[in-house]
Amino acid sequence: MPTWKATACSCSNIALIKYWGNTDEVQRLPANGSISMNLDTLMTRTSVEFRDDLASDHVTLDDKTVSGAALGRISRHLDHFRKLAGITTFAAVESSNNFPAGAGIASSASGFAALTVAAAASLGLKLSERELSSLARLGSGSAARSIPAGFVEWYPGSTHEASYAASIAAPEHWDVVDLVAIISQGHKTTGSTEGHALAGTSVLQQARVASAPGRIAACREAILNRDFATLASVVEMDSNIMHAVMMTSVPALFYWEPETIAIMAAVRAWRAEGLSVCYTIDAGPNVHCLCTVADADAITQELDGMPGILEVRRGGPGRGAYVESVE
Ligand code: DP6
Repeated sequence: MPTWKATACSCSNIALIKYWGNTDEVQRLPANGSISMNLDTLMTRTSVEFRDDLASDHVTLDDKTVSGAALGRISRHLDHFRKLAGITTFAAVESSNNFPAGAGIASSASGFAALTVAAAASLGLKLSERELSSLARLGSGSAARSIPAGFVEWYPGSTHEASYAASIAAPEHWDVVDLVAIISQGHKTTGSTEGHALAGTSVLQQARVASAPGRIAACREAILNRDFATLASVVEMDSNIMHAVMMTSVPALFYWEPETIAIMAAVRAWRAEGLSVCYTIDAGPNVHCLCTVADADAITQELDGMPGILEVRRGGPGRGAYVESVE
């Protein structure tokens, strides 16, 4: 077998309508559809080289060797590509993020999207964007949404092939800005994989899933019409509903810190004063403040003046995952 190496890049994404809970945990078939925006400044670059001389997969992330459960998850993902190519060869994987690890910015979306595109390219597999999205989903659900460009919808599906994400609008369609307020993290939070498995234990999950299609339609329309006011109300509502499910699962999951709640209140006040801004929060304490370009500097200044925020990271709509080089 020739030794082929490919490098791919992928943006992270922020969910505007959230994915929380699966109908199939192994295949990561989600309980509901979701919508997201790729973030152009939060990127992962990954190279994959399948090599005959390796006795096992070797993975580094930001120059540190990955082992244990994290390595197992990556190896299982590589197995899908070995199977497609009809090989058993192990791979050397080098991955790096342009954002600091441990800052609570989710890296599994950009990480598994970049890994998927690099692995497929290194083996010369000719796969469509849709097939790449379904494959990325097997590694991390939200990674399915980092494959297509810009504003993206993930169709939940009930089979592997039917569960994939596609672009609703190109990155140039709308200059929405995400200001990520990074909060100091005092303690460990429950990871999303573990959290998804608990979603069904909340009596609210059924109502959340049943009402998701309405929010998906409203969010999609708001994006297509560049209607920030409608986007703001549906995005905040959807985040609040997901956190209500988290807080009422067994065991209960509380991701908010005091600073999180302070920012949520401030965002609502800024909006009442006329700024185009809303919040959305994932499985951690950081607050994503979505706003229009016109209001981004004013909101950054406000956030900079608040206590307990380590850093504010700015991102705009990003491109889809892409192959950087094949050697
Ligand atoms: C709260 O995609 O990280 O960010 O499939 O187990 O890797 P796994 O979960 P993940 O879940 C994301 C959960 C969320 C909401 C979202 O991004 O839609």
